[in-house]
Amino acid sequence: MKKALLGTTFAIVAALGAVTLNAAGHDPVEQRIALMKANGAAAGVLGKMVQGENPFDAAAALAAITEMRDIAAGFGDLFPEGSETGPNSTANSTIWSDRAGFDAALAKYLADTQAAVDTPPQSLEELGASFGAIASNCRACHQTYRIPR
Ligand code: HEC
Repeated sequence: MKKALLGTTFAIVAALGAVTLNAAGHDPVEQRIALMKANGAAAGVLGKMVQGENPFDAAAALAAITEMRDIAAGFGDLFPEGSETGPNSTANSTIWSDRAGFDAALAKYLADTQAAVDTPPQSLEELGASFGAIASNCRACHQTYRIPR
């Protein structure tokens, strides 16, 4: 039951993400780079709290985690056939040769960010645990599906 509910939430979120992204009207390569830049910025907000550079702020942490969840929901639509290369793109051709693996990596990122949205961290310790789970997705996906620069 809980699983079915979560699945519905994902579908709605994915649909909302797609609408927002289409409204932006840029080409998919520019869009996905912009989303990952925002993703990096949101991760930076959390990282600074975890490292003690900034004080823990539950509302700011939830806002950053929610943004990452929205990015995870919309990112997969931005890799249509024909968008394999583009100025400044570091997308790896493995995204298209192993689309199922890429989609699975993205689904895991969405699940981990959704879990943190559903149970927002209320302390620095809880944020540390959430952030650890979320950040493991960055490395895992980039290793296989992004060209190192
Ligand atoms: C499911 C795969 C996936 C996950 C998870 C993921 N990324 Fe990415 N990321 C990509 C891909 C693919 C690109 C290259 C996109 C392109 O250039 O076309 C990228 C590019 C980037 C870039 C470079 C953007 C630029 O300026 O060109 C940053 C920064 C980044 N990711 C940060 C993160 C962070 C931080 C996380 C985790 C919180 C994360 N990513 C999680 C796939 C992923």
